[in-house]
Amino acid sequence: MSKRIKIFDTSLRDGEQSPGCTMNLKEKIVLAKQLERLNVDIIEAGFAIASPGDFESVKTVAEEIKNCSVASLARALEKDIDKAWEALKHAASPRIHTFIATSDIHMKYKLKMEPDAVLERAVNMVKYAKKYCSDIEFSAEDASRTNLDFLTRVVTEVIKAGATTVNIPDTVGYTTPEEYFSIIKHLKDNVPNIDKADISVHCHNDLGMAVANSLSAVRAGATQVECTINGIGERAGNAALEEVVMALNTRPDFFKAETRIVTTEIMKSSKLLSSITGVSVQPNKAIVGENAFAHESGIHQHGMLAERTTYEIMTPESVGLSKTNMVLGKHSGRHAFKDRLESLGFSLEQEELDSAFEQFKVLLDKKKKIYDKDLEAIVRKESISSPE
Ligand code: KIV
Ligand code: ZN
Repeated sequence: MSKRIKIFDTSLRDGEQSPGCTMNLKEKIVLAKQLERLNVDIIEAGFAIASPGDFESVKTVAEEIKNCSVASLARALEKDIDKAWEALKHAASPRIHTFIATSDIHMKYKLKMEPDAVLERAVNMVKYAKKYCSDIEFSAEDASRTNLDFLTRVVTEVIKAGATTVNIPDTVGYTTPEEYFSIIKHLKDNVPNIDKADISVHCHNDLGMAVANSLSAVRAGATQVECTINGIGERAGNAALEEVVMALNTRPDFFKAETRIVTTEIMKSSKLLSSITGVSVQPNKAIVGENAFAHESGIHQHGMLAERTTYEIMTPESVGLSKTNMVLGKHSGRHAFKDRLESLGFSLEQEELDSAFEQFKVLLDKKKKIYDKDLEAIVRKESISSPE
């Protein structure tokens, strides 16, 4: 049986913390509405106490969004929780997300608190938030570097206090898929009341493993994944939503898990975020990069023209692209060349085709990109557009 994974999008909070990705109020609302069309389960709209601008955007997103829960981040402090609630109170489905660090290194140097005091604060602040709304998420910041017995105690106690989601962040992108699997599995096996809450994962990409770690956690029993569009976020970013979702979608046999994401809205969401922030994704970025569904080599193009599943594990249509991009380049073969000419309305005899193909190869030594107008010029034997 397939289990349902909640998608918690933090593009507007952790994503916005990434250099160059700040958004104004209007842009945040536009993105939040696109996230609603994408059908994420939870939108983390911001950190209400961080600034008046953040407060205003959490409040407006909370008022405008109807089909997703809306969350605000809050440190484990009464004043943060009060502010989060003030911003969220008109939401159709509000969530207060409170956090405190639990690793030795954070407790000693950042919080300057003993573990028992941290545990007490976590429990008290979950109880405090609970007086405002029923949906409370607690995050044990730097969980992947936290002593596992202490983490187990914290998770047990915050669930007793009323947390409905417990997040186990890999705050500094330090863990590995195997290690993260065993942390989540340990909590599943050793927290007596674990079934009363969703276990959430929140992975940063410092070692390039945020998506792999998140997916490994799903295999171990996590039921919520926190992620961002295009993987934006602090430092090297967060787990990319589109990669997590399409991995679950493409391999249901392996993950036995599904989301409620409308995958055909993925490309639009990615492009919208890039146009708002001015930060585009690299061409070879999985799922949403320009080359993610492009095929240039002759062998691949030949296979694709015969049967697309030879080289395509998901369709471009499934993420909202209209079609596969057969790039005509120096690795392309006659099949793709002929196919493109036919799509342009040219049906050539073998001899004409051979000659046009030769000219096409010569042109490739002069130009990086071949456009349809170049192909038309070759066939019509006109002069070819100048090299770039
Ligand atoms: O990375 C992190 O630990 C966070 C928490 C506040 C959830 O962003
Ligand atoms: Zn984070």
